[in-house]
Amino acid sequence: MSTPRKQVILGAYLGGVNHHTAWWHPEAGSQIDFSSFEHTARTAERGKFDFFFLAEGLILRERAGRIFDQDIIGRPDTLTVLASIAAVTEHLGLAGTINTTFNEPYELARQFASLDHLSGGRAAWNVVTSFDAFTGQNFRRGGFLDPADRYARAEETLNAVRALWDSWDAADIVADKGSGRFLARPDAGAFALHGSQFHISGRFTVPRSPQGRPVILQAGVSPQGRAFAAASADAIFSPFGKQPEAADFYRDIKSRAVAAGRAADDIKILPSASFVLGDTEAEAIEKYHAIREEQVTGQTALILLEQIWNRDLSGYDPEGPVPAIDPDPDAPPIIQGRAFVHQDRFATAERLRQVAEAKKLSVREVVIDQFERGALVGTPAQVAEQIDTFVQEDGSDGFILGSHLVPWGLDEFVDKVVPLLQERGALRTEYTGATLRDNLGLPNVRSTVAARA
Ligand SMILES: Cc1cc2nc3c(=O)[nH]c(=O)nc-3n(C[C@H](O)[C@H](O)[C@H](O)COP(=O)(O)O)c2cc1C
Repeated sequence: MSTPRKQVILGAYLGGVNHHTAWWHPEAGSQIDFSSFEHTARTAERGKFDFFFLAEGLILRERAGRIFDQDIIGRPDTLTVLASIAAVTEHLGLAGTINTTFNEPYELARQFASLDHLSGGRAAWNVVTSFDAFTGQNFRRGGFLDPADRYARAEETLNAVRALWDSWDAADIVADKGSGRFLARPDAGAFALHGSQFHISGRFTVPRSPQGRPVILQAGVSPQGRAFAAASADAIFSPFGKQPEAADFYRDIKSRAVAAGRAADDIKILPSASFVLGDTEAEAIEKYHAIREEQVTGQTALILLEQIWNRDLSGYDPEGPVPAIDPDPDAPPIIQGRAFVHQDRFATAERLRQVAEAKKLSVREVVIDQFERGALVGTPAQVAEQIDTFVQEDGSDGFILGSHLVPWGLDEFVDKVVPLLQERGALRTEYTGATLRDNLGLPNVRSTVAARA
């Protein structure tokens, strides 16, 4: 019997503040206006995407007191944006990145259960821990919680949130025969949770939402992050959009999930990727290089290297060679609000030096060459083929796609690539599920009412 063809899962990422979004491009629209979010989400829904995705940054990134050039556009609040998008879409999932280090389980559970109600079962939470102390300065407790403890808190937060979601059962609302009114059972929403991070008890205000448990994504690739995701997440937003790293990551996570007692298919791997289309392959490649040139300024290139070196490299010439000096991992972090931690700084620095030397590249050129997480470049037919093959060969279960051009970038993909994916039988032509969980092919979770006091 042949294995059934995998369906490609697609998320639409509306770029926030990073060097992938060319917000200064003459054709770029606002990244704050509702119309930009609305246009991208409606386009994604037109293309039968699974979900719309927002990252979150709780701090404007800065270096030596200067906010990054790419960040000045700012980021509005994720959940507020998703709630507004719920009103102008019907089937599209709504995925928001929210931090477990600086938020409380009770409010997180309420927010996502509410979004799930308002959207008719389309809410998803991308659980992140963040890693630098600076973000905490914006919050009541300051820069608390050692990075080593963040996954302990994330795990306890997620368990608490799920327990709160489970604290109402469908049977908790009963029709009173005499009055004809609907009443809550006396113990509806009751919970008592005690752990190393929280001692909370009371009643949860939001009745069970359409998905029961909104979809959980996770982003973070350390061993702790992988273990956490394999045990608890429905999907991973992965940085591995290229082979062979992608297939290694895929196998690692699926086997960890199986070891944790789950089915391999219960967790979906979704790398972030960008795309560039052309009428011919040569045109697409030329466009891709022009976009990369625009995205990676000299300042951006040095800042990206500083994330690895953890040293002030501002004295280096971006058009010169990669620094010969070694990284300094033990010094206090020099960049605030980074989006990615390099696990092995020495090996990464050495690899960049070797690539630069072999290909005769400057700092800026090596960043352009090596810092692309995954780009789908070619004619629409080639890009459809690349996506389908990558997924069928278990590089991933789909992609979270971002365009460099907000908000119009996704239109071209939906107009030209989506019909080809549909022709190949790799993408739905109509939504069939009632909820995001259904559309993603994830198991439905029955309420266990585990938190009941
Ligand atoms: C692909 C990817 C996207 C991420 N997006 C965000 C984000 O939008 N906001 C955020 O605070 N952290 C984000 N993170 C970082 C997470 O905060 C994560 O917790 C961090 O990488 C530390 O986990 P780790 O040590 O397991 O990698 C992202 C990480 C990855 C790999």
